[in-house]
Amino acid sequence: MSATPPATLGPDATIGILGGGQLGRMLALAAARLGLKCHVLCPDPLSSAFDVVRRVTEADYSDHAALDRFAADVDVITYEFENVPAETALFLAARKPVLPDPGVLATTQDRLAEKAFVTGLDIGTAGFVAIAASGDLAAALDVVGRPAVLKTRRFGYDGKGQVTIRDGVDPLAAWNAIGGQPAILEAFVPFEREISVIAARERGGAVACFDVTENEHRDHILKTSRAPAAISPAIADEAERIATRIADAFDYVGVLAVEMFVAKDGAGHALLVNEIAPRVHNSGHWTIDAASVSQFEQHIRAIAGWPLARPIRRGRVTMTNLLGAEIETYRAALDEPGTAVHLYGKAGVREGRKMGHVTRVLPER
Ligand SMILES: Nc1ncnc2c1ncn2[C@@H]1O[C@H](COP(=O)(O)OP(=O)(O)O)[C@@H](O)[C@H]1O
Ligand SMILES: [Mg+2]
Repeated sequence: MSATPPATLGPDATIGILGGGQLGRMLALAAARLGLKCHVLCPDPLSSAFDVVRRVTEADYSDHAALDRFAADVDVITYEFENVPAETALFLAARKPVLPDPGVLATTQDRLAEKAFVTGLDIGTAGFVAIAASGDLAAALDVVGRPAVLKTRRFGYDGKGQVTIRDGVDPLAAWNAIGGQPAILEAFVPFEREISVIAARERGGAVACFDVTENEHRDHILKTSRAPAAISPAIADEAERIATRIADAFDYVGVLAVEMFVAKDGAGHALLVNEIAPRVHNSGHWTIDAASVSQFEQHIRAIAGWPLARPIRRGRVTMTNLLGAEIETYRAALDEPGTAVHLYGKAGVREGRKMGHVTRVLPER
């Protein structure tokens, strides 16, 4: 538990953000619109969020002197990535309120703990088996079948740290490919589509979900998100109920994303939770330009102790990530009707790196 937050922050308060990527940048922009100041702490001198905030601390997450100064300067602390070291979160939480509560990180940093948490709530996931050593693989493959997906328990993102084991693939090669680390083996889900729910929960427990988003990945990296998802109202309701139950179970404060697979199940469909992100999420970027309130503002409101807005979507929306060299295409989008261009101001173009995104809004049919 962290220091008790004041009931409501005044609009002159300062929010501390751990992590200086595009999510921190967009959080800070939303905070600024509400008159709140931000202070970003990140070890990377080229952090994209540094460009848009009043104060920055360029320091390692283990630098206690820097963390101490950072905590003294802010009223509440939040994070834009889930791999905040536990020790950093505890150190800060002893000084200032950290929201969402760092206890959430222990669950969401570890795919095994996360899956156990979700199944413990009686919510479906892909079948999975814990893998502690390569010797566990053969029996696990017997349980989940092929194809299966071998994933490191920790530090995976954008498909890094995971390998699909299809027929003919040597499990030991897969184990070596993920660096021989503690892992989980998941049944491969032949999903019809992938969706996510971006849910915000305020301190009093009220939850507001954005309309369910449909996500397409390319090389395991999110490429396109569309809202609303092409699913029935009943599945959309069920997806929102699942996200709400997860948020309630964490006694969560802030924005959280729940990624799910929609899979055929007899004549109907089943929803399987794939991942929980205890933060704002790439699949919610459309909310900046196509909803009455953005996911970033909802997060800021929640951690500041303000009431959540009730978001209303403004049309059919598609968000397309500009990955790596695709950033060059932004110029063509600049004068397209109904299109908003976002550039993250990152210096180095690398393959698959999230450099910006484009949101296209069409009128509701
Ligand atoms: N069990 C699975 N069955 C089918 N596809 C999967 C499975 N696990 C992951 N994937 C695909 O890989 C993508 C990335 O996997 P995910 O577990 O979300 O890791 P991360 O986003 O942290 O890299 C998913 O969005 C999905 O497209
Ligand atoms: Mg994911």
